[in-house]
Amino acid sequence: MLHLILPFFLIPLILPDQFQVSASIFNVTVDDSSPDPLSGAQIVYTPPGIWQAGQNCSNCTARPDPTGAMEQTWHDSYHAQGQPGDPNVVPAITFQFQGTALYVYCILGHSNINPISNSDMSFFLDGQFVGSFFRLADGGTNFDFNVPVYVNTSIPDGTHTFVLQNGHIGDLAALVLFDYFVYT
Ligand SMILES: *[C@@H]1O[C@H](CO)[C@@H](O)[C@H](O)[C@H]1NC(C)=O
Ligand SMILES: *[C@@H]1O[C@H](CO)[C@@H](O)[C@H](O)[C@H]1NC(C)=O
Ligand SMILES: *[C@@H]1O[C@H](CO)[C@@H](O)[C@H](O)[C@H]1NC(C)=O
Ligand SMILES: *[C@@H]1O[C@H](CO)[C@@H](O)[C@H](O)[C@H]1NC(C)=O
Repeated sequence: MLHLILPFFLIPLILPDQFQVSASIFNVTVDDSSPDPLSGAQIVYTPPGIWQAGQNCSNCTARPDPTGAMEQTWHDSYHAQGQPGDPNVVPAITFQFQGTALYVYCILGHSNINPISNSDMSFFLDGQFVGSFFRLADGGTNFDFNVPVYVNTSIPDGTHTFVLQNGHIGDLAALVLFDYFVYT
């Protein structure tokens, strides 16, 4: 009799806990050019007109091989400090997600001319500065794909706003070729 009653008694106690754990541990990949496949959230690129869809942008000078990029797409912004026509604003990417870990992937250039492919990124979570990625262009002609420029695996569960900023006002020239997010 006891072994029949026990399972029924235990199921409601164990199931909800296991369900919660398994429901939250999986990765979602969000391409630069598509909404979040899970939540439908759109990546916001600011200010308007600064970010270009890099794969078919006629006036972008960074030309990585599209086949190296997630979905063969990326977003390009160039912070051309002090050059004629440069608006001298800080391009930014804003993304809202619900999770406990975030991985941010970019394509990195090496060229130090046309465009000067320095990386000078700052990262913010819920309005707080949480890190940066800095690399000076070394003059190569190749591109590095799938570079995790920011990883955080200790985010409290909940809804969060992530911001990536390209460069600083009055500082050196900086390029961002943003490819995709992964969050857990
Ligand atoms: C999510 O993706 C990251 C980066 O590829 C990986 O390190 C991590 O183990 C993945 N997590 C899960 C739950 O699959
Ligand atoms: C830009 O590239 C994307 C992906 O390759 C494509 O879907 C889109 O139609 C292109 N846009 C233009 C204006 O060519
Ligand atoms: C690049 O071309 C796009 C249209 O394809 C235009 O909206 C944008 O202003 C141009 N950017 C620059 C820096 O010339
Ligand atoms: C991860 O996010 C938490 C919460 O915003 C923050 O306190 C922590 O400094 C971040 N860690 C890294 C490595 O960015």
